[in-house]
Formats: sequence, structure tokens, C-alpha cells
Amino acid sequence: MENNRGSWGSNLGFIMAAIGSAIGMGNLWGFPYKMGANGGFPFLIIYLFFVITCGVVCMGVEMVIGRKTGKSPVLAMSQLGKRYKIVGWFGVLSATIIMGFYTMLVGYAVRYMLGFGIQIFGASGFGGMGGTDFFVGYTCSPWVVLAFTLLTFALCYIIVAGGIETGIEKFNKVGIPALFGILIVIIIYNFTLEGASQGLVYMFTTKGMEMAGTEFNFITACRMAAGQMLFSCSLGMGAMITYGSYLGKDANISKNAWIIPAADTSAAILAGLAIFPAVFAQGGSPKGGPGLLFMTMHDTFTSMGWIGNVIGFLFYLLVIFAGISSCISLMEVTSAHIIDSSAAKSKPMSRKKAVGIVTLIMVVLSIPVCLDQLGMGSIIPPFYNSFMAEGSKDLLDVYDLLSEGIMMPLGAILMCLIVGWKKGLNWMEEEVELEGNKFHTKKFFHICVKYVTPLVMVFVLVALVLSYINV
Ligand code: PFF
Repeated sequence: MENNRGSWGSNLGFIMAAIGSAIGMGNLWGFPYKMGANGGFPFLIIYLFFVITCGVVCMGVEMVIGRKTGKSPVLAMSQLGKRYKIVGWFGVLSATIIMGFYTMLVGYAVRYMLGFGIQIFGASGFGGMGGTDFFVGYTCSPWVVLAFTLLTFALCYIIVAGGIETGIEKFNKVGIPALFGILIVIIIYNFTLEGASQGLVYMFTTKGMEMAGTEFNFITACRMAAGQMLFSCSLGMGAMITYGSYLGKDANISKNAWIIPAADTSAAILAGLAIFPAVFAQGGSPKGGPGLLFMTMHDTFTSMGWIGNVIGFLFYLLVIFAGISSCISLMEVTSAHIIDSSAAKSKPMSRKKAVGIVTLIMVVLSIPVCLDQLGMGSIIPPFYNSFMAEGSKDLLDVYDLLSEGIMMPLGAILMCLIVGWKKGLNWMEEEVELEGNKFHTKKFFHICVKYVTPLVMVFVLVALVLSYINV
């Protein structure tokens, strides 16, 4: 693929970047809590079912579309058929909208890392406040939140504007091994704490539901697992089309399609081991979302004494690596779209300029989210909130509903249907088997792409939408 779009230095570089995109806030604040609150091992089995029947399959489909067309989602989909362009647009819009809240959350982690970093040297990093007080005070200081969000945007800009091999690949080749290294260090430390085994009981046994105050419901567990899988594997929004478009023809797509979700799931389980043993050892209780990652973990590290500052610093550094590596894939989807479409109109735009424009658009989208203060700023009009479910009444959730709740599952379903029924599986097979690569799981892909994945994804779409609104 000789062009000036850039390409990965190696398949390993691609794998690292794709794993980086997949591992993110979703793994850290979603998976471990949901696993415990929804039955432990039974949840893990349900999750694995979705990863295999949808995650691996969509990953393969997106990579094939990307590498075969050598384009970002909108142009790639319109190369498959003019009317499929809309599916590419779902991706570009989702990526742009997700960045409107995701960077703010990574910005939180930057603030917490600095706080614990300062405390290592004896100064006070959180004004002497406990987890809840500090979190409420921080989220209700929108200009400070915005400042940390802008810092996150600046980091992402530098990496993405740096290029595919020299920016994104370079960052992930360091960031992803570092992320796994930090996870292991924290897990080892956790298991020296008294009472840590409760964390294992929470995550892996049915007792977890008692601890979280929940009851097992098969449909709820399926809904939670499916939504989590789609977001966690970065699917349905063209991130893997975009990353796949920079992939060499000799890379083994079918192998990559298994490796990336496997690494993502391993990271989700390891994240649980880095979080819950410490939470229980320090007398905390299970939660999900920002409450877990910021309030509970803050209190957990504080109660460990001085060493808690070191562990806390490392933990938030890990969150930053996970978050930034996801942010840059989102930023790349929209940037690649601008780069490709301006080249198609014979008005090529430099990467730096395109990424600059994209950063600006995303910053504008993130400002109201920062001002909304997780709903406390009441940016959302009351008439809208009246039909949103409890716990989904802030701007962040509106963005989340549009992207994760609607466009991502819809995108995933349509991509599978287009490849399975319109282009045909030989079209996919040809690409996977280029340069003598073997497609060992061909039969499995054939059945899933045409039937299983779209059907399961329709369930995901309906369940996700219903979970956001009052019905
Ligand atoms: N996979 C990321 C997470 O688990 O936090 C979120 C994400 C990144 C979703 C990139 C979609 C995407 F394209």
C-alpha cells in the first residue's frame, strides 16, 4: 500500500496499538464490578460467549474492511457500496462524541496521579479530603476539570499528530507493556494485604452478588456483558477499520482477531485483581463507574499509609496509559477521515492540520460535559431527563447513549450484514488469506458473520437502548 497515509512499522506495532485502543476505562471501571455484581464465573462465561461470537468476528470484519480498502471508515464503507457510507459516518460520529467525555475522565486520572505523586513527597495532594468530598469538590470545579481535560487533549494531539508509526505505534509499544507491568506490580502488592482474598470471592464466586447487593438475572447479565464487550473491544465504530487500513498485506488478520480480544479480556480480569483485593482489604465496598475508580480507590490508597501514595500514583498512571491509548484511537478515526477525504478531493491536508481541526471539534464537544459536572451542573433540560433512566441523567450519558448505545451496535450489525450478505464471505476470505496466510477459523467466521453475530448484536442494541431510558 504505497501512499502517504502512513503505515505500521510491524504487525506487533499494530497489535499493541489495537490492544491499547481496546484496554481503557471500560476495562477498569466496568468489567470487574459487573463481573462481581452479576454472578462471578457465570458472568465471565457469558462475557466470553459474546467476545467469541461477536468480538472476535467484528474485529476480523473491521480489519478486513480497513486493510482491503486502505481507507478510513466513511471512504472504506462507500468503497463497499455508495449507500453504506452512513455506516462509516456512524463510526466517525461515535468516535468524536465519545472523545467529548472520555478525555474528561482521563483528565480526572491525571489529577489523581498528580495528587498521589505530590503526597509521596509529604505534601498534601487532595487538601486533606476523603474520597467522596474530594471527588464532589473536584467534579464541581468545572474550570479545573476543563484544564485537566485540555491537558489530556494536548497529549493526544502530540501523539496522533506524530504519525502512525512515529506517534501512535511508538506510544503503544512503550505504554502497553508498561500498563501490564504496573498491573502485575499492584496485584502482587495487593496480595500481601490482609483480607485481599475477599476480592477474589467477590469477583469469582456467586457471593459477589451478596456483597454488591444484587441478584442474578440472566437477561441483565447478558445485557451488561454484551454492552461491556462491544465498548471494551472498541468495535462497531471503525477504530479497527482505521487501524486496519495501515496494516501490511502480510499480517495475519485471523490471528490478530483472536489475540486482541484475548488481551483485552485478560487486562479486564487483571484490572479486577488490581482493584477489588485492595478495596476489600481496606474495608471498602464494591461499586462501578467513577465512584469506584476515583472515590473508592482514593480512600483505599489513603488507608494504606505512605505506601498507598506510591501504589495510588502507579494505579492512576496505569489508568492514564489505558485511557490515552484509547483516546488516540478515537482521535485517529476522525483525523484519518479528514486526511482521506481531503486527499480524495485532491486537496491533501497535512496530518498536523487535520489532527488540529479534529482536536478543536472534540474540545468544543467536551466543554459542556465538563460544565455539566456529572449532572450536577444541570445542563440537560428537564423534559429530556424525564424519560431517561435513573443514573443516566447527565450529558455524559446522552453522549454515551448516542455512541455506545445506538451508533456502535448499529454499526457492528450493519458491517457484518454487508460483509456476510452483500460482499460475500469469499471477499473476506481472499483478504485474510493474502500472502499465504491460513484462515483456520473460516467456518466459524462464515456462520457468525452471516447469522450469529448480527442476531446477537440486535439483542445488544435493544437491551442497551432500553437500559438508558425509562420504560
Ligand atoms: N475500548 C475502550 C475502553 O474499554 O475504555 C473505549 C473505546 C476506545 C471504545 C476506542 C471505542 C473505541 F473506538
